Amino acid sequence: MHISRRDCLGLMGAGAALAAAPGGDADRERRMQWWHDARFGMFIHWGLYSVLGRHEWAMEEEGIPVAEYQLLANRFTPQPNAARAWARLARQAGQKYMVMTTKHHEGFCLFNTQHTDYCAPKQACGRDLVKEFVEAVRGEGLRVGFYHSLMDWHHPDGARCLHDEAARRRFVDYVHGEIRELLTNYGKIDVLWYDVAWPLDAAGWESEKMNKMVFDLQPDIIVNNRNQLPGDFSTPEQEISAAKGGRAWESCMTMNDSWGYQAADDAWKTPKQIVRNLALCARDGGNYLLNIGPRGDGSIPEDSVRILTAVGRWMEHNGQTIYQAQPCRVRSSEFAGFTRKGNTLYMHVHFWPGETLALGGVKTKVLSARLLAGGPPVEFEQEQFRVRFKGLPKHAPDDPVTVLAIECDSEPVQDTGAVRRDRPRLNA
Ligand code: GLC
Repeated sequence: MHISRRDCLGLMGAGAALAAAPGGDADRERRMQWWHDARFGMFIHWGLYSVLGRHEWAMEEEGIPVAEYQLLANRFTPQPNAARAWARLARQAGQKYMVMTTKHHEGFCLFNTQHTDYCAPKQACGRDLVKEFVEAVRGEGLRVGFYHSLMDWHHPDGARCLHDEAARRRFVDYVHGEIRELLTNYGKIDVLWYDVAWPLDAAGWESEKMNKMVFDLQPDIIVNNRNQLPGDFSTPEQEISAAKGGRAWESCMTMNDSWGYQAADDAWKTPKQIVRNLALCARDGGNYLLNIGPRGDGSIPEDSVRILTAVGRWMEHNGQTIYQAQPCRVRSSEFAGFTRKGNTLYMHVHFWPGETLALGGVKTKVLSARLLAGGPPVEFEQEQFRVRFKGLPKHAPDDPVTVLAIECDSEPVQDTGAVRRDRPRLNA
């Protein structure tokens, strides 16, 4: 059966039974507090596909036979401790946690496992890359996350498990066994990020049992929703859309169009797009997990370094508008986005209009305003339907987004409907 990439994503969460969080909602809140505060994480896609440099789905999309593909293991010999540079970059960018592919759909394990020889320590690489990763992440004071693909294109039972019970038994034991190793051999792990459950459903994967094992081994961990159970958070992919019903969510996104290294992919987002996306996540109470795809040698594509470095420079003096931001009810402007903390509204101006900057429909009294880039307090006038900030620099004083911190006398509220409805009209 051919299952396309899109179909795989469609299977996520389908027919999910409700998995009880250990200890219920209060325990979930406890486990997730650091993650909500963190807001911004680094995703890392790294595996044999990084040697090929044609996207992490190359094996399937180019129809590469298993026997041919697995020869890549002879060429996957990254520099020792490549992850240290990633972790440094993540910290400098203001990212608080890192989630790396311990095994992607290709089936090659980056960690030491008793369950297969198709793993980095037993192949040309000769080292446990997950161990190096964990040490590097902790070395920068960040939290550790493991991505683990359930779908496996290499394992002999990875597809036939759907129709053959003996194969399903072997394959499920294999995957559970690997997860057990990952959560036993590397100390405290903060996030487990399952991916693509094809071809089984929650019952086939024994996902309830899987999660129970995970929480037994790591009582503080959080898990996502891609083993066909809801888990602790939702995972919108390549889009920013808040989960319904106040559920926690994390938007994962690439900086170009590929997760794994793709040498020719030049569709890079700008630092401005990244900052805007991050602020959008923060505005609606979500996290942003931004991907890098290192090369086979472990080096990070220069464009990723350039973009994350620019984001990090911005985060140094604007991070306060992102971390611990609270849901914001001011949302409408054609040149700015918004976040909020208490009674302070942060107006993230991405298209700088010049010396005067106006915002319509603000129903809250403004007390003062200042630019986070520095300078004297900003003068303003507030009318019934408009606040105008004046005497601003002609050119944007910050790059790529300038933040105006607007202090209000209560939680800032905007009602653009009132502008249209209630503003006095001229007589004809
Ligand atoms: C999808 C893709 C995969 C990528 C992931 C990231 O599941 O199959 O390549 O790892 O999304 O969210």
